[in-house]
Amino acid sequence: MNVRDSEAVAALLSAAGYEEAASEEDADIAIVNSCTVRERAENKAVGKTGYLLAAKRAGRLKAAGLMGCAVQRLGESVFKALPGLDFAVGPRRYGAIPRLIERALAGESGMLEISGPDEVPQSMDAHGDCGFRAFTTVLLGCDNRCSYCIVPDVRGREYSRPAREVAAEAAALAARGVKEITLLGQSVLRYGRRNPAFAPDDPPSPGGYREPFPRLLEMLQTIPGLERIRFTSGHPSGCTDELVRAFAEMPKVCRHLHLPVQSGSDRVLKEMGRGYTRARYLAAVAKLRAFDPEFAVTTDVIVGYPGETDADFEDTRSLMEEAGFDNAFVFKYSPRPGTRSALLADDVPREEKERRDAVLLADQDARGAARNARLAGTVRRILAEGPSARNAARWSGRDGGNRITVFEPGAAPPAPGTFLDVRITRTAPQTLYGEIA
Ligand code: 5AD
Ligand code: SF4
Repeated sequence: MNVRDSEAVAALLSAAGYEEAASEEDADIAIVNSCTVRERAENKAVGKTGYLLAAKRAGRLKAAGLMGCAVQRLGESVFKALPGLDFAVGPRRYGAIPRLIERALAGESGMLEISGPDEVPQSMDAHGDCGFRAFTTVLLGCDNRCSYCIVPDVRGREYSRPAREVAAEAAALAARGVKEITLLGQSVLRYGRRNPAFAPDDPPSPGGYREPFPRLLEMLQTIPGLERIRFTSGHPSGCTDELVRAFAEMPKVCRHLHLPVQSGSDRVLKEMGRGYTRARYLAAVAKLRAFDPEFAVTTDVIVGYPGETDADFEDTRSLMEEAGFDNAFVFKYSPRPGTRSALLADDVPREEKERRDAVLLADQDARGAARNARLAGTVRRILAEGPSARNAARWSGRDGGNRITVFEPGAAPPAPGTFLDVRITRTAPQTLYGEIA
């Protein structure tokens, strides 16, 4: 989401006549985008901005700003933490940035732009030169109130962008060569639930879809040139029969869902206020895999939530095994000011959080290895991205399930953004290897 926000701001600035600097050292103006979901992320962003302000004092920068969730959380106090900061902008006010830069260059400083929770943001659809893949934010904010999570406080209430606007943006991207689009929202399957995303005069769904999110997918599915549609993040309550039908009927919709579980313990899930039990979560996964056993499911897990016992942790381990995740991101619990769980003692020691983190990652490595091994010998449709990060002589791309696939490009390397059929010859926990079929 932050990558997409940075890109949208960069596009706004290009439109206003600014140019991207070749490197940080060459820049006249610098803006740091921040995240406050965990304390460490916020500290990193604030630390980096402090370093830029030193460069400004030394005369190497003309203006410096901070954007993102941390600004919304810190409010005016951001200028105490960062004296000399020219401007600070919260998530729904990014449209103000070009004007703030002008004012900063004219000598103003300490300008704060934060929004109320219901504000509808402007300038959501700016895209720069994005190549063959693009993100688009379709649902802003979050109305779930998970006990540990600061997102609802800093990203505001849920707001779904009109389906027509999203479709027009996707069509414009496809016309510029974008093959794959990823729809973003904290709880993207809640699209069109709080505010209507479809207008009464929008054409009815040809496939008879009644739920707004599958209906949006159906609209995007007809855009010429657009080949793949992805979205993130999901929630079990959104894994409806219609969503499963959309996955099954719409060939452009990739068979992958990022479905954060957070814990496998019913007791902890209840304390977190996640709105599902372990059984209900597993039922959602089973539903997705029922029509395609290779359907990729990935997740987020938190270790060391207040009061998480060994037994709770073992429940998380066993849930992860039962769900058969294709990939997992593990986070060590970090208390965030103003959240419900911040009132509880952060009582799992740091070393124990680290131990649990390491155990889950080792489990996931073994599980990923076993799941990927089943794909050896299959031929997969890969969107080729370019030379692989580790070895420039090889190329990498991703299959529909978002699995990284490394292959020999052959004598005439394909253009980035080309679809290729790759036969898998070898597999690793997080990577498939193969040759062009
Ligand atoms: N501590 C640790 N991890 C968190 N996440 C959200 N809030 C916290 C927190 N306070 C994790 C969740 C979420 C991911 C984006 O970040 O797992 O899915
Ligand atoms: Fe945070 Fe829960 Fe909303 Fe995800 S669903 S952004 S964890 S409050």
